[in-house]
Amino acid sequence: MAEPRSALFAPRVRSAVITGASRGLGLASAAHLYRKGWRVVGAMRSVDTGMKALREAAGARDDDPRLIGVSLDLTDTASVTAAAKAIEDAVGAPYGLVHNAGISAAGMVEEMPIDLWERMFATTIFGPVQLTKELLPSMRAAGTGRIVLVSSQGGVRGMPATAPYSAVKGALERWGESMAGEVAPFGIGVTIIVAGTYDTEIITDGGTTDCRELDGLYACHHQTIDKRGRAAMRMVARSPEKFAVGLAKALDSPKPFVKTAVGPDARMLLIANRLLPSAGLHQMTRLMMGLPRFGALRAEGNDRG
Ligand SMILES: NC(=O)c1ccc[n+]([C@@H]2O[C@H](COP(=O)([O-])OP(=O)(O)OC[C@H]3O[C@@H](n4cnc5c(N)ncnc54)[C@H](OP(=O)(O)O)[C@@H]3O)[C@@H](O)[C@H]2O)c1
Repeated sequence: MAEPRSALFAPRVRSAVITGASRGLGLASAAHLYRKGWRVVGAMRSVDTGMKALREAAGARDDDPRLIGVSLDLTDTASVTAAAKAIEDAVGAPYGLVHNAGISAAGMVEEMPIDLWERMFATTIFGPVQLTKELLPSMRAAGTGRIVLVSSQGGVRGMPATAPYSAVKGALERWGESMAGEVAPFGIGVTIIVAGTYDTEIITDGGTTDCRELDGLYACHHQTIDKRGRAAMRMVARSPEKFAVGLAKALDSPKPFVKTAVGPDARMLLIANRLLPSAGLHQMTRLMMGLPRFGALRAEGNDRG
C-alpha cells in the first residue's frame, strides 16, 4: 500500500539513545536533542527519578512519545540485553547510540582495589560493547547511524590519581577507532568526543569513588592535586548545556570517523598531545599537578640516581 502523502513529506524523526541520561551531561544532552526534535531514549538505572528530571529539563509531558525511558545497568548483562530489546521495541533501529554513562574514582594505583578496576571496565567497556553488539544488527539493516563514545582528557593521556578512569577511557577510544573501520562500510559512523571539564557530579568528591589515603604514602601528592587540580577543575568547569550543543553537532557529522574535542581545555590538550613528545607531556602534567620531582620520595639510604 502506498504511503500517505503527509507521511511522504513529513520530516523523518531521528532517534538517539543516550546512556546515563538520569543526570549530568547525559541529561543535558537528552533534553537538548529532544528540544531539537529528536526522539530520545534515555537509558538509565533509575527510570522513575531519572525520567522525572529529564522531562522537567526537556519541558516534555509525561506521555510524550518522543521522550522514552529505558532501564539500563551497564554492569549487569541481563539488564543490557533487556535494554537493547526495549530500545528496539520503542524506536526500532536507533540512528544515534551515545555511550555517555561513566563513573570516576580518585586515588593512586596502590590505593585502588581491583574490584574498582572491574567495575570501571564493566561500566565503560564491557556493558557498552555488549549494548553495541545487540543494537548493531538493526542499525546495519537500517544502513545509517552514528555511535558516539564520550571520552575524557584522561583517555588522551593517563592522568595521575585516576588510573582506572584513564585506562578505561583510553580503551574506549581504541575500541571506537577499531569499530569505525568495521562499521563504516554499512553506513554507520563513529565519533569519539574528548569532553572538557563540565559542572556535574563526576568532578566532585561526592560523585567520585574516593580511594585516597590522605595520610598515607601518597599524602603529598594528594595535597597538591587537591589544591591545584581539583580547584582548577571547578574554576574551568562549564555548564552541561554547552556540552549538549557539541554532542548534537557530533551526531550530525556525515564522516565515517571523527575524534573531536568538546570544550576549550580538551581542545588544548589534544593540541599539546600532538605537539609535545610523551616525556614533555609527563613533565607538563607533573608541573600542573604539583607532583614531586623524579626520585624526591625515595626511601632514605636509597638515594642512587
Ligand atoms: N563532567 C566532566 O567534566 C567530564 C569530563 C570528561 C568526560 N566526562 C564523561 O562524561 C560522561 C558523563 O559524565 P557526567 O559528567 O555527566 O557524570 P555524572 O553526572 O556523574 O553522570 C554519570 C551518569 O552515568 C550513569 N551511570 C553510572 N554507572 C552506571 C551504570 N552502571 N549503568 C548505567 N548508567 C550508569 C549515572 O547514572 P545514575 O544516576 O544511576 O548514577 C549518571 O547518569 C562520563 O562518561 C564521563 O566520564 C565528563
